[in-house]
Amino acid sequence: MIAWIFIVLLVFYLVRKFFQQRAYENTILKHGCSPPPQYQHKDPILGIDLFLSTVRSISAGNSFIHSQSLFGKYGKTFETNSFGKRVLLTMDSENIHAILVTLQRKFLVEELRIRATENFLGRGVFNTDGPSWEHSRALLRPIFARAQISNLGHLEARVDALIGLIPRDGSTVDLLPLLKRLFLDTSTEFIFGESVNTLVPGTSSFDAQNFLGAFDTALKGIGIRIVLGRLAFLQGIDTHWKKACQVVHSFIDRNIDVAIQRRNRNSQDSTKRSFVLLDELVKETQDRLYLRSQLLNIFLPARDSTAIGIANVFFLIARHPLVWDKLRAEVLNNDAPVNFETLKSMKYVRHVVNESLRLIAPSGRNLRLATEDCILPHGGGADGSQPIFVQKGTEVMFVFRSMHYDEDLWGEDADDFRPERWERSDSIPQHGYVPFSAGGRVCPAQQMVLTECAYILVRLVREFEKIENRDPEESFIEQHKLQMESRNGVKVAFTVAT
Ligand code: HEM
Repeated sequence: MIAWIFIVLLVFYLVRKFFQQRAYENTILKHGCSPPPQYQHKDPILGIDLFLSTVRSISAGNSFIHSQSLFGKYGKTFETNSFGKRVLLTMDSENIHAILVTLQRKFLVEELRIRATENFLGRGVFNTDGPSWEHSRALLRPIFARAQISNLGHLEARVDALIGLIPRDGSTVDLLPLLKRLFLDTSTEFIFGESVNTLVPGTSSFDAQNFLGAFDTALKGIGIRIVLGRLAFLQGIDTHWKKACQVVHSFIDRNIDVAIQRRNRNSQDSTKRSFVLLDELVKETQDRLYLRSQLLNIFLPARDSTAIGIANVFFLIARHPLVWDKLRAEVLNNDAPVNFETLKSMKYVRHVVNESLRLIAPSGRNLRLATEDCILPHGGGADGSQPIFVQKGTEVMFVFRSMHYDEDLWGEDADDFRPERWERSDSIPQHGYVPFSAGGRVCPAQQMVLTECAYILVRLVREFEKIENRDPEESFIEQHKLQMESRNGVKVAFTVAT
């Protein structure tokens, strides 16, 4: 009996699918589009085969190689089936530009993010679209514009401390955890007005480990909610998770109270403390829940990103010692204090950071939902040059790391770490480089991050004569957390300048 029910349901499903597919193909033709190549699933109903091979590649740390082999086989844009849903994968620069810039109002994120994150993050710049998102962006724009110039001051002492933790006897150091601690300290200070002070143990005025542990537990809960999809509400019964959210919320609420009191007292000490994002937000509103939501929506994408970004620069330079020598020549040629203006004048430093973000950005892919029917410029026809029709409800995964390695855009040496390519602006493809995304949702911290990366690089290049790779593994093995980092860390040794 059960077998018969199953067979009837299966037949019903296949017939429905057949007619849906016919209607879809007719719509494609009506719009003058060609269909994109289809991934050849072993399991055409749910597409579990591709899901499993993707999970395997993520746990082996080679999901980029996996994507490259798929794009090599199917072309720069192709369609897959993910648990019955149509999902497009693309590395095509014109398609990515359309998704992020020209058609950005049709490719949104809220539906993909809000269910899993709202309980913890509230609603803010990261997980909403429309007026709510526009309001957040308008609020943040002037703050980040000021932060890129004002924030170097508070990095100085922390980078002194970092340099103090690097062995000077040529023994091996893993820069990744040190940089993570440094940027956790600076980002909590910049965003909340109170640093967790993890770089130098014993300097924190509160239980930083408790806060960070709670934050990680809260994030794991979000991961579970993503997997649960429509059943995400079930995760709400996990009291351990609820408690973790409360710990994070009360840390932030305490800082909000302090910021509001300072603002209302209009005391002089507010000018003494370094530039704090929360202080700036408090000038606009004193709605505590709104403030907490905005802060968490900024801390989530900020967490570890800059640390991983700059750690990757060292990962690559340690394997390219001539780049270090060239950097040192430029940096030692300028003995002025390291400030915003000095950094701007150091072209090779900037080229090294750009090139590193091209090859290994902290995040290499992203997802959008088509909320209306629309047309992407490429991906159809035998050579992929025809436009494709994207039906409302399709998820589009754009893999910009693959685009950053596209030989059609970057030339035959696209795989090579060659900062010199940035010397000629005509060798940089117009829409081919988006480590900070593009369009309306471009990372608001981009300029601040680039300045901070350049600052750390210059300070270390001034301090040390040589860098040496101490990682027996030459290639980059991925570790996927919130962002993507090097599984083996960044193990190097420095030689002190004499
Ligand atoms: C190397 C460091 C960083 C990189 C490569 C980076 C990259 C990105 C990318 C690719 C996005 C777009 C995500 C999307 O479209 O869904 C993004 C968004 C965002 N980033 Fe960054 N980021 C970095 C550091 C930071 C820092 C330090 C902050 C804050 C202090 C920050 C705040 C944000 C925010 C708030 C968004 C959401 C913007 C929106 O959706 O409108 N990021 N970032």
